[in-house]
Amino acid sequence: MTEIDVPFVSSSGLVVVKMLEMVKLKPNDVLFDLGCGDGRIIVEAAQSFGATSVGIEKRRDLAVAASGKAKELNLSRRIGVIVGDFYSFDMSRADVVVSYLLTVANKQLESKLEKELKLKARVVSHDFEFPDWKPTQFMMVNEGWLDHKIFLYVKENQEGFKRKDGEPELAWKSL
Ligand SMILES: C[S@@+](CC[C@H](N)C(=O)[O-])C[C@H]1O[C@@H](n2cnc3c(N)ncnc32)[C@H](O)[C@@H]1O
Repeated sequence: MTEIDVPFVSSSGLVVVKMLEMVKLKPNDVLFDLGCGDGRIIVEAAQSFGATSVGIEKRRDLAVAASGKAKELNLSRRIGVIVGDFYSFDMSRADVVVSYLLTVANKQLESKLEKELKLKARVVSHDFEFPDWKPTQFMMVNEGWLDHKIFLYVKENQEGFKRKDGEPELAWKSL
């Protein structure tokens, strides 16, 4: 399988907050950001929500910047940054997974996340869907001339994130 290369583009501050609110992030949650870039999501998760957060980032320069930010803000006890490849990182400790990747990359992660994540784990994705999963909720965030999509998935059962027939349809929420 060829791993998809996803470039660094950061989520805006507004989208970061909306994603963390959408997953109802709590202080005892462990959040993983798959490709944490400059660390803005893991910092917000620890600083404003009191969660423990882990960023997995393949680019060393970005990982160094992210962990520098955590140190500067005295948040190193609650933030970990790993230089590495999320495709080979064990996800079983995560209560919440954040993704701002591409649909093809999400597709490659689906079976790994289905297998490794605990029951009731939440996955939130900025702009790109997990194509074989049904979102529990989705939301549009308008920011000037830009519309962002946010998809929330919850591992409701051992089979994974696929919802059973007959379950209620999605509710669009526009902010
Ligand atoms: C679109 S950016 C998102 C950054 C951050 N999560 C945010 O939303 O602001 C995707 C990030 O994933 C990283 N990345 C791409 N493939 C990766 C992989 N296989 N393992 C770890 N990081 C990866 C990129 O270097 C980039 O920083």
